[in-house]
Amino acid sequence: MSKSFVVETLRCEYRVDPMGIDVPLPRLSWVVRCDQRGQRQTAYRILAASSPEKLSQDEGDLWDSGKVASEQTLQVTYGGSALRSRMRAHWKVKVWDKDGNPSEWSALACWSMGLLDKSDWRAKWIADPLTMDKPKVQPAAGATLFRKEFRAESGIRRATAYVTGLGLYELRINGTRVGDQLLAPEWTDYHKRVQYQVYDVTRILKSGENAVGAMVGEGWYSGRLMGIPGNAYGSYPRFLLQLEITYGDGRVDNVVTDDSWRATHESPIVSSGIYNGEVYDARKEAPGWDGPGFDESGWRQVRMLDGDGAALVCQRNEPIRVAKELSPVAMTEPKPGTYVFDMGQNMVGWCRIHASGPAGTTMTIRHAEMVNDDGTVYVENLRGAPQIDKYTFRGEGDEVFEPHFTYHGFRYVELTGLPAQPATDAVLGRVFCSSSPDAGSFQCSEPMLNQLWHNIVSTQRANLMSTPTDCPQRDERFGWMGDIQAFSQTAIFNMDMAAFFSKWVVDIRDDQADDGRYPDFAPNPSDSNKTSSGVPAWGDAGTVVPWRCYQNYADTRMIAEHFKSARRWVEYIHSNNPDLIWVNGRGNNFNDWLNADTVVMKDWPKKGGAVPPDVFATAFFAHSTEIVAKMAGVLNRKEEAKQYGDLFEAIKTAFNRRFVDQDGRIEGDTQAGYALALNFNLLPEDVRPKAAQHLVEGFNRYNGHLSTGIQSTHRLMLELTRNGFNSEAWRLILLRDFPSWGMMIENGATTIWERWDGYVKGRGFQNKGMNSFNHWAFGAVGEWMYRTILGINLDESQPGYKHFDIRPQPGGGVTWAKGSYNSIRGTVSAAWKQEDGTFTLEVIIPANTSATIYVPAKDGAAVTESGQPAAEAEGVVFRYSGNGAAVFDVQSGRYAFAAPRDQG
Ligand code: BGC
Repeated sequence: MSKSFVVETLRCEYRVDPMGIDVPLPRLSWVVRCDQRGQRQTAYRILAASSPEKLSQDEGDLWDSGKVASEQTLQVTYGGSALRSRMRAHWKVKVWDKDGNPSEWSALACWSMGLLDKSDWRAKWIADPLTMDKPKVQPAAGATLFRKEFRAESGIRRATAYVTGLGLYELRINGTRVGDQLLAPEWTDYHKRVQYQVYDVTRILKSGENAVGAMVGEGWYSGRLMGIPGNAYGSYPRFLLQLEITYGDGRVDNVVTDDSWRATHESPIVSSGIYNGEVYDARKEAPGWDGPGFDESGWRQVRMLDGDGAALVCQRNEPIRVAKELSPVAMTEPKPGTYVFDMGQNMVGWCRIHASGPAGTTMTIRHAEMVNDDGTVYVENLRGAPQIDKYTFRGEGDEVFEPHFTYHGFRYVELTGLPAQPATDAVLGRVFCSSSPDAGSFQCSEPMLNQLWHNIVSTQRANLMSTPTDCPQRDERFGWMGDIQAFSQTAIFNMDMAAFFSKWVVDIRDDQADDGRYPDFAPNPSDSNKTSSGVPAWGDAGTVVPWRCYQNYADTRMIAEHFKSARRWVEYIHSNNPDLIWVNGRGNNFNDWLNADTVVMKDWPKKGGAVPPDVFATAFFAHSTEIVAKMAGVLNRKEEAKQYGDLFEAIKTAFNRRFVDQDGRIEGDTQAGYALALNFNLLPEDVRPKAAQHLVEGFNRYNGHLSTGIQSTHRLMLELTRNGFNSEAWRLILLRDFPSWGMMIENGATTIWERWDGYVKGRGFQNKGMNSFNHWAFGAVGEWMYRTILGINLDESQPGYKHFDIRPQPGGGVTWAKGSYNSIRGTVSAAWKQEDGTFTLEVIIPANTSATIYVPAKDGAAVTESGQPAAEAEGVVFRYSGNGAAVFDVQSGRYAFAAPRDQG
């Protein structure tokens, strides 16, 4: 028995113990933890059973995989007896190490199946007749309440609720809120797909009288969304619930939504909208409405509806839930009776507020990202999203308010309307987002870079709201494709995005136009056939994001499901542009958004930042085509691999012929043009160094600064490092004047700003029409930080970190850095230090993987590992010295390299 070989982090479809899976053959994964060098799994055995008891007796009545000789720890397809609706599978894994020693069994994990067949649903959609007949009671309609009483017999073994709503619901049983998920069922293209959630409610039910109640607000479904006239998807809220109660003797009772339910629009949630905020009148609360014995005589009988054809699907990504709580760092009173709380951090969610006031008094809560010079809240940049909550007191002492069906982006919270000064702890910030687990860590000797990393992660947390949004505060908050396309690799370093993207890639496909155009944002609440689709770099998220999932998570199934869609996108561009320069059919053509030409500043060049649109579009056409060719290769679709490989070559040729001169100068001579062409490998080998040189010369026209927009900035950083200009990349990342990441931080940023100069001390705010302080695209430089400072680089030829490189490229006077990435095969970590003439590099390589380590040193012979000559160390093979690094191959385990610094 190998005690040092531990199996942990069991996941099904990327999630820990998911409730509600509707994939017929789910994929399982685990992580093998072991410190020993060169350790690897040689075999595994999986047992899956219908109860934990059976598993504890090592009985797999669903599946006993037997001992399978394999190194595979991820994407292992369930191979047991057919999974049917409602089934629960408990499972565990044992593995064998390289010497054939077995590990202990892992801890138990489980998953449950959802309702796989339409006919499993006995419940009917229901709605309040009042909201149906008079859909829009006011701009942001109040919540509808639904309720139903029922009897349960004694001997309940299990009770499971399958629930959804259109727009957003909160479920309550016997006075208790069910689950901790917020804004359920989250955002999809509701015309095509509505997610339902599955809750185990066994403990909340009791034998005898019970009651179930639901509040349903308009949310994304029937609420206001930018640019959409009227309601986005439907005009009134609906609700659907199927509660299945199984007794010890096998009998089953069903409580389902039907016309026996009652509804009212008389709810304390007087109005609630994603952009607007929530108005809550506590005097309208009806205590006991969600429990048995309530007098529901004033409530109406609901109406049953036919479904509109949208599929009911299990939610694949982690739910939106509270990630952390923040207490204010300060409270001020810039005007009498106006109290402004500083949460110390630009955050997303809402506040829980403790306050008191006479019955009928209304407290108004405004949320802002910034304050004006006089300390009052700056709300102009919110545009049409007031994000104001209002609470009217019952007048019963300390009252607690927290909204339900909205969310806000803010650092400052303004309270007015209170009869007395609130306590400093009256406000608690509840930060929430899609709960993708944290995956990365980063620290180094330069505090500004640590703050930058913190700002990037905070911005990511702020913009995962079941879709990857552009911003969380103004009247937008859409899954803008171009932004996440640029940010996707950074997002993956920071958090485990596998489940999130598994859901969102389906959203992209749902809104692909009939002619193959991808939407500009997914979901697209309008019709992609008519509008908001087909834009270079935005549509290309439809190839880039699934490909990143393949590279990072070895997700071949996602590629297989997505391939035809990705090919249609490339075919759309190709058929409109047979001469291979993307000129036609470019939608709104946002180009390299927010490049230097959009900057208004004294002595700042008016032109020269924006890459010519044809260069920009054609570069992305080539990039997506190459990805489609690679996808075809992974899927063993040989003909298409060749076809799109050839097309990629042909686009490259056309690109070079049209835009690149012999001297490597690219039309427009923009930093962005070089960055894109280099990053997408569009240039012949001999032209690359020339183009890189022109890129660097481009800084001269901007006083040594960037002129790039959101699509080219991080690519520029990566290409500087790749092409021998690492010190230039370091210079840029450490700048503190305009435009730079450092400048945002000097001006108080706690998140990444949409614009470099969103706010400048002394000058004030940028154009209020487009000035978000929580936009992740310029934070895509996080990828450069992980890859260059920590040195963690994946190897596309061995996806899912089967093999990877550790190649820190220090610079900028930074003396140490350390960090880690929880890869799907386990935690990779790197820590380096330059001290007393020595460079040390400590790495941890997960079991079952191998890595190539680049130690900055001229002479491989001078490098040691744990005090021995490195080439002789166990698990280490010296490869070569070159380009300022000694290169070693290592197997799994911990290693401590050291090299004399004067040689580096
Ligand atoms: C969004 C951007 C988005 C852009 C399209 C903006 O309003 O906030 O982040 O990518 O529109 O150009």
